[in-house]
This record gives sequence, C-alpha cells and structure tokens, in this order.
Amino acid sequence: MYLTQEEEKLLAGESGTGSQLAMELLIDLGEFFEADRLIPVTSAHISGVSYLTGGDGLIDQLGLFIEHKAKVSIFSTLNPSGMDRKNYKDQYIDLEFATKQFQILQYFNDLGVSLTCSCTPYDFGHLLTKGEHVAWAESSAVTFANSFFGARTNKEDSLSVLSAAITGRTPYYGYHLTENRIPNVEVSVEADILEYTDYSMLGEITGKAFRNKPFPFGAIPVFKWINKPRPQEMKALGASLASFGTHIFHIENVTPEQELIPQAQIEDTLIVTADMLKETYEHFAPPDDVNIAVIGCPNANLEEIIQTAGLVKGKKLREGKEFWLFTNAAQKALASSSGYLKALEDVGVKIFVDTCPEVMPYDKTRFEKILTNSVKAQHYISAPSLNGLPTYVMSVANCVDAMFEEEIIEDE
Ligand code: F3S
Repeated sequence: MYLTQEEEKLLAGESGTGSQLAMELLIDLGEFFEADRLIPVTSAHISGVSYLTGGDGLIDQLGLFIEHKAKVSIFSTLNPSGMDRKNYKDQYIDLEFATKQFQILQYFNDLGVSLTCSCTPYDFGHLLTKGEHVAWAESSAVTFANSFFGARTNKEDSLSVLSAAITGRTPYYGYHLTENRIPNVEVSVEADILEYTDYSMLGEITGKAFRNKPFPFGAIPVFKWINKPRPQEMKALGASLASFGTHIFHIENVTPEQELIPQAQIEDTLIVTADMLKETYEHFAPPDDVNIAVIGCPNANLEEIIQTAGLVKGKKLREGKEFWLFTNAAQKALASSSGYLKALEDVGVKIFVDTCPEVMPYDKTRFEKILTNSVKAQHYISAPSLNGLPTYVMSVANCVDAMFEEEIIEDE
C-alpha cells in the first residue's frame, strides 16, 4: 500500500506509539480489502461503547490505546453507551454495570472523543456534505451518512473507527469508491408508506429480499415511488436496511447522488405491495402481556418527541406498564425548554439519554417481552448475544395505546 511521507512517520512511531498502533491496524485492514492507499477523513463517529456489547474486552482494548497515549486528531463523536449517565437507576441498572460503563466513558474522554453518546450525530450538529470522506461506525448512521448526505463512509468497526479517529485516515475501498455506490437492486413501492414504522417495515421487507445475494458491499437499492421521505423517515428506513448489511440506498428524485441512478446495474427487483406490508406487521404483532414499550431506535429527534407528547396527552399509564423514550442530550434539552419533556414525564414516560433500547441490559425479572416501533430494535433486542428478549413492533401510536389508557377526570 502506498503511504505518504507523513503516514510513514506515523507508522514509524514518530508521533507516538498510539498512532503507530492505529496505523498498523488501518494498513492491515486496507491490505485485506486491497486498498491501494489511505485517504484523509474529516470526522469519526465511534461505536462499541456499551459494556453490555463490549464487556471487559472493550475496557482492555481502550486501555491499550490509553497506555500508548493515543488521542483522536479529528472531530469524533460517540455512539450510545449502556446506560443513562444520570438516570441509570431508572433503567434498573446496577452499580456494578454502571461502574464498568463509567470506566469505558472515562477512557473515551481521555482519548479526546466527545461524549455525545447517541447514534444520531446529525441531530446535534455532526453534519456532512456530499462527497465528504468520513469514518463512521454506527450502522444506522453510516446508512444515513451515505444515503441522506451523500457523504462517503464504510461501516467501520470499533477498532477501525478508533484508528481512523486517531490518524485522521482510512483505507480507500468500499463505499469511498464511486463504483461501489451504484444501485444493484430496484425496489418499486406500491404499498402506502405513511409513517415512521412503515419505513422501518419497508427496510425489513427490502433487506430480507436481498440478504442472501452475493454483493461485495451489500445490496444497494434504488427505490422508485412517489414518496419524498422526511429525514427521520429516511433514518427509520436506513436503520432497518442497515441491520441486513445495506449501508447505502438511493431514492429516485430524493437522495443526493441522482447521477448514479442511470448507471444502475440492476441484478434483482422487488415490488413491495400492501399485502407484504400487512403481513410484516402481523409477523411482529405483540401478545397482550408485554409490559414495556421502548422507542427511540435510532434515537428520537425533537419532532418525534413532540409527536409522542401529542399521542400521550390526556392518558395515563396502564397498571404495571412502562413507556421509555430514548433520545440524545441535545434533543432532551430542547424538549425541556419547550415544555414537551414535562408533558411526557407528567404522564409517566421515562426519557433516557446517552443510551439506546438495545445496548442496555434489561432487568429480566421485570421485563420478559419488549414492544418497540423499530425493526432494527426488534432484531437487536431479541438477539441472544444482547438481551435475547422476544420483541414486537408496532407504530408509536399503537405502542402508546398498548401502554396507556384514557385518563378519566371525574366531576367533583
Ligand atoms: Fe441507535 Fe441503538 Fe438503534 S445505536 S440505531 S438506538 S440499536
């Protein structure tokens, strides 16, 4: 692999053994993917933060970089951790887990990473331009970066993204190259895709249809339909697709890289019908005894918080039920200053930041089944390597109906 003079110096350890270690990792990765060189990246979004997913191995790995005095050299934000730093007890998380999680966050802080702890960095100002090369690791955010912004990032893993953040470089392969961004499957949408969870279901139907195809960088769908999705709807679609390994999609007349659509090399097609959508909802329908709904995968933005506040207005939680909303600190602050936080908390909604519905450990003595509005959440919460809890999916409005009842105000 060709290295610039500056990169040769980093590799020789002239800037310290931390960046030397990171360079060695990037070169190994680049050689595996036959990259001919490294390219500069302008920002990193780092995943692998939760003690639930990383365990003691994550602490050891970060400790190694700390020992070598590594520091990030570009703007670097952080994915959700395993708990709300202030309110973890409301998640029924014990001190032992919290202590380990604080240790991990302290290490990231020492490395110079901004402790944003959210999977929607674009919601608090980590924005990208078309064609900008970055290194992001959170799968839903990668899909959003590539598809909504037209920026260029591979789906990094926790080590490669940290190495990119330290050196400001990444191997030039995969989605950084135009030829790997060209659509290879076409999706015509006949079903009415009207709200957030419909988009999540569309991602499920599409992801499932193409998941066994041997594309080197996954299926790259081009959607053909009349919808012009809003950003959070593209976020829902992308998150769901990402859980099937699709990290870029295009929508005719919507997404920024329209010039790639005429170059499509379509190898398979899919028509998404109203029946397919209905069957997918039926497949994920919950039983009656679910006692918790969790929304905010990916983390909810202010508009979603406001919508939820509207849905719970005048209602009260049913006996023994809980409703949790996951967002980031910036959106929570905005919801607080505009009164929506109080409106939600007054009816018993728990709002958590710094974390997400999947990378937190559930108290299984309280919760045996989970309801959510996101297919990605369904995949991950039910994964045996995470919480392994049966998980069901409905729209937010239906999640609210399952957990809340009308509050009857009695006349005096
Ligand atoms: Fe975000 Fe966690 Fe879902 S990181 S996309 S809320 S799995």
